[in-house]
Amino acid sequence: MRLVLLGSPGAGKGTQCKHIAAQYGLLHLSSGDILRKEKAERTELGKKAQRYMDSGVLVPDELVVEMMAKAIKDASAAGFILDGFPRTLNQAIELDKSLGRNGKKIDAVVNLKIDDVVVSKRVTGRRSCPQCGAVYHIENLKPKVNGICDRCGTALLQRPDDSLQVVAQRLKTYHQQTEPLVDYYKHNSTFFDIEAGRQPDEVSVSIREKLDAIAKCEA
Ligand code: AP5
Repeated sequence: MRLVLLGSPGAGKGTQCKHIAAQYGLLHLSSGDILRKEKAERTELGKKAQRYMDSGVLVPDELVVEMMAKAIKDASAAGFILDGFPRTLNQAIELDKSLGRNGKKIDAVVNLKIDDVVVSKRVTGRRSCPQCGAVYHIENLKPKVNGICDRCGTALLQRPDDSLQVVAQRLKTYHQQTEPLVDYYKHNSTFFDIEAGRQPDEVSVSIREKLDAIAKCEA
């Protein structure tokens, strides 16, 4: 299956993608995670992306489209789930073109719907492990020992773009540049809206109900 998960910053894309990837044997491709890795490794792309990411605006399409095309090419035959990409109409069109050249398409798009006030609290309370990538929340998903990763014992960090001010800019960017993709995909793909303001497990069950039907059709 080839899937896209849409949603505002903090809607739970990363959290849900991990479950979906494990359930259906898909490769989880997060444009944000790939960019953060490039940044940490001080690559040319990482250096170019840094100032955009730190201020909560989008990295230019030409950089991201090329980066994701390479990641998608390396995906296995089982398929992939895209998290954070596409994020502009132009990125979506380029993705469709590039899949189309190989006779492929996006099979389904899941849109996580949630209120800005809720996501703002989620994102500013997020803590991540710089070592293994595990994600926690200071209220909703606490590690066993405060500030320490359960999995690998590394000290947890707050993402530089998770401050209140940058989150406000990220939400603005989302509404201006990414939300129009909802309409695009409603007309161009199999599309599901999922209410994402519930407990993570409840959200997962709703997504799974929709995707099981697609997986059955493919089998
Ligand atoms: P990116 O890393 O993609 O950030 P984002 O889209 O803003 O999404 P987040 O990672 O903040 O949130 P999420 O939806 O994954 O939520 P999560 O599951 O972690 O992008 C960062 C930057 O990179 C962008 O601003 C841009 O500059 C650049 N970039 C990336 N892609 C790009 C592209 N295609 N084009 C151009 N630029 C690009 O959950 C958040 C928190 O909530 C966690 O603490 C979690 O534990 C908690 N939580 C999750 N679900 C629930 C729940 N159901 N209930 C309670 N708490 C929950």
